[in-house]
Amino acid sequence: MNLNKNIVFRLTLSFFGILCCSCIDTGSKDTIRVGFSQCISDHEWRKAMNHSMEVEASLQSGVELTIFSSNYNTSKQIEDINQMIDEGYDAIIVSPLEPNSIVPVIERAYNSGIPVVLIDRKVSTDRFSTFVGGDNLEVGRDVGNYIVSGANGPTKVLEIKGSDNSSPVIERSLGFHQVVDGNRNVDLILSIKGNIDGTPKDRLSKVLDSLGSEGIDYVYAFNDLMAYQAWRVARQKGMEGRIKFIGVDGLNGDEGGINLVRTGILEASILYPTGGSEALQLAVKLVKGEEVAKENLLGTTVINRRNADIMKNQFDKINDQQADLEKQTAAIKEQEERYYAQSKLLQITLVLFGVILILALYSIYSIFTIRKKNRQLQVINQKITVQRNQIEKIAKEVKESNEAKLNFFTGLSHEFKTPLTLIMSAVDSLADSMVDKPRAMNELELIHTNSNRLLRLMNNLLDFRKAEDKTFNIRASITNMFVFAKNIHAEFAREAKKRGIKFTIDSNNKDLELFIDRNLMDKVFFNLLSNAFKFTPDNGWITIFIKDNEEGNEVNIHIKDNGIGIPEKEIKNVFDPFFKGSNNRKNSSGIGLHLSKQFIELHLGKIDVKSHKGTEFIITLFKGNTHFNEDHIIDYVELEESAIPDFASETVIESTVPENVLGSNMEKYSILIVEDNKELSMFLKHKLMDEYDIIMSNGTDAIEKAFEFVPDIILCDVNLPEMSGFEICTILKNDLKTSHIPTIILTALDNKESYLKGLQSGADLYLTKPFSYAILIQSIKSMLYNREKLRLYYTNNFYKIEGTGNYGNLEQKFIDQLNQSIMEHIDDTEFSVEALADNLNVSRVQLYRKVKAIFGISISDYISDIRLEKAKSMLENTSLPISEVAYASGFASPSYFSTSFKNKFGNSPGAFRKSSQS
Ligand code: FRU
Repeated sequence: MNLNKNIVFRLTLSFFGILCCSCIDTGSKDTIRVGFSQCISDHEWRKAMNHSMEVEASLQSGVELTIFSSNYNTSKQIEDINQMIDEGYDAIIVSPLEPNSIVPVIERAYNSGIPVVLIDRKVSTDRFSTFVGGDNLEVGRDVGNYIVSGANGPTKVLEIKGSDNSSPVIERSLGFHQVVDGNRNVDLILSIKGNIDGTPKDRLSKVLDSLGSEGIDYVYAFNDLMAYQAWRVARQKGMEGRIKFIGVDGLNGDEGGINLVRTGILEASILYPTGGSEALQLAVKLVKGEEVAKENLLGTTVINRRNADIMKNQFDKINDQQADLEKQTAAIKEQEERYYAQSKLLQITLVLFGVILILALYSIYSIFTIRKKNRQLQVINQKITVQRNQIEKIAKEVKESNEAKLNFFTGLSHEFKTPLTLIMSAVDSLADSMVDKPRAMNELELIHTNSNRLLRLMNNLLDFRKAEDKTFNIRASITNMFVFAKNIHAEFAREAKKRGIKFTIDSNNKDLELFIDRNLMDKVFFNLLSNAFKFTPDNGWITIFIKDNEEGNEVNIHIKDNGIGIPEKEIKNVFDPFFKGSNNRKNSSGIGLHLSKQFIELHLGKIDVKSHKGTEFIITLFKGNTHFNEDHIIDYVELEESAIPDFASETVIESTVPENVLGSNMEKYSILIVEDNKELSMFLKHKLMDEYDIIMSNGTDAIEKAFEFVPDIILCDVNLPEMSGFEICTILKNDLKTSHIPTIILTALDNKESYLKGLQSGADLYLTKPFSYAILIQSIKSMLYNREKLRLYYTNNFYKIEGTGNYGNLEQKFIDQLNQSIMEHIDDTEFSVEALADNLNVSRVQLYRKVKAIFGISISDYISDIRLEKAKSMLENTSLPISEVAYASGFASPSYFSTSFKNKFGNSPGAFRKSSQS
């Protein structure tokens, strides 16, 4: 992937490279920079030279011409050429002012490898590249020949030479002399020097004056300008018509040689080409490395009256064409620039297109790569999913198997509890009857102790499951630690005595109170002490010391023995589940210490162990209750089952039942026992049958039997074959026929949820196995007593019952309906119990039992009581005759009414009315 990125990066870079190069390629690298040093700038011929050079440069592609003008100043010209050398011009064209002083700079340029082109004038060195210009010797000869050919007789000539010592000045004179010297007709009467801006007027004026008009035929001037000025001097003297003036240059234009000839001012002019365009062509050739001749002489032509017009026309045409050419060149240049700009744009577009193409290709490549990778990932994912599913399946199987095993052990442990309860209750019972037989008592104690031990083991197993499921909920209440520990100490005192173990308990603060969950801490103490007793030899010692760190916020409880101890290497594992020390040869479940640690940690405390000549467990607990949440703190003690039956009390029943209320003379109460364990049900039956009528059910017919017999109490197990005890209880509590019956749930399920379920089903009491027989008996008696108290209340106040709500909702509803139905028929002497039962949707027997259960009287007595109460009220509040009161309250005969009234209230109706009205 990195390699691909690298490739893309390189390709993109290359395109940008191409883009940059293309910019540079078309830039200044190919331009030929040509510098031109012009010696004179204010002369028309010079201007023509510059112009022709510029036109040529514009025609040459990639040529950049710069003109430096020194205007008669040699120093300035030298300076300009040096600058061109320093700035690295590709070629230098020089039209030197004079031939000597300029030599060193010409040679410097030439020596530094720059092509040097001399134009028009020569210099005194051959270290230059090439020369181009008109042939000045030829110019001089042309003039000479012209004069000679026109000289039919003696002809006098005045020569006006140039002002300097430049090569044109010298050569034009030389060529002229070559022709005229020695010619017998031509007489060169005088040669004078002109000055830089034309003919020396004063000198010429004097010459003309001295010679007179006959004394001169021709004036040959160095150039047209000088010739024109000479003509003007002659005209001032009126001699211009006789003298013929000849100049050089032959420029087109108003004051140019061609026009001067046409207008007759000049006799003739010699066309002297500027060589501007040729010089530039030569310079470019030299830059390009092409061979050129050292000297390039340009031809000259004589302009006279015969060809002047033609020449003018020719030059005008050339000028027009040149103007067109310039326009076209400008247009081409513009096109070129446009083309250049567009080509740049095209290049950039192409490069960008290339980049986009590369990116597009890369994207396509990436898409394919990603798809491929995705497919690979999908395959891997599928494999992982399959593996995960397998793992989940295995984990589920393992969990289910574990769950099944745990359920099996838990169920088994619960199963153990019922026989244990039986054994322990039987032992209790036997102990009561054998107080006077010490040997039997010893045996019974043995059975009792071992049953206790078994039960404790069962409870440990069940606690272990609860701890694993993290379903323990701490319930801390304030507890005097010394008293609490002392009670547990007492449990072990007998064993200590038997084995000669010195077992002590002490504290530095016996008033110390801590917030602890007594049930859990009880288990911790029992586990740690059982452990100590297990591994301490006979005649050894075990101590409990509760140390209040008075300054600090903690309490340490030390339980120490001088037993076999724990090997040092194993000490860190002592609280692990199923731990068994390598020196421990006794049977051990290995969960007691583990559970103890869990219970202490639920108190946010800690437990440490030291082992050196015996073992010491140190429990650390916090003082106060700020480390607990509010819902962890309880005000009272809810003890769960204890292994000691005498202490077992799921609900503390405080009321003591007066014997006279439940006296033996009274009709026996009935109890329905719903229990599928035959032994337990038989045990209960035998225990209770002396005092109560017992109805038995194995659970399958519990509801039918309850409906049939409407017992006074129901004892019901939870785990039953067809329906659970909770379900049975719910049904009975929701049925009018049985809703009033107090129900006690007996169960081995000792968790909070089951307890809640019991309450929700409407059970009046919830006893967990192993329950104490004494507590069961006391609970039954309490319930019957409470029911009896209610009955007494209702029997005496039945006319006030409506809406009082002392019964459950269902009972209240029943009573309301019952009363309403009776009141509706209060004056109906025929209204029977059967009719009332029909109205209430119950059978006659059920109505009888229900009313008897609630009010303790028969239904007919109940109806009669209501009629009498009604009559009593009428006697008090109306003046109806007694016989009418009797009929209005449903009595068929006034005499029977009087008897009944007297029986109930002690007075006859007449006497009662009298006493109530007085
Ligand atoms: C102009 C000029 C021309 C002449 C040339 C010779 O400066 O004098 O008239 O032909 O220079 O160098």
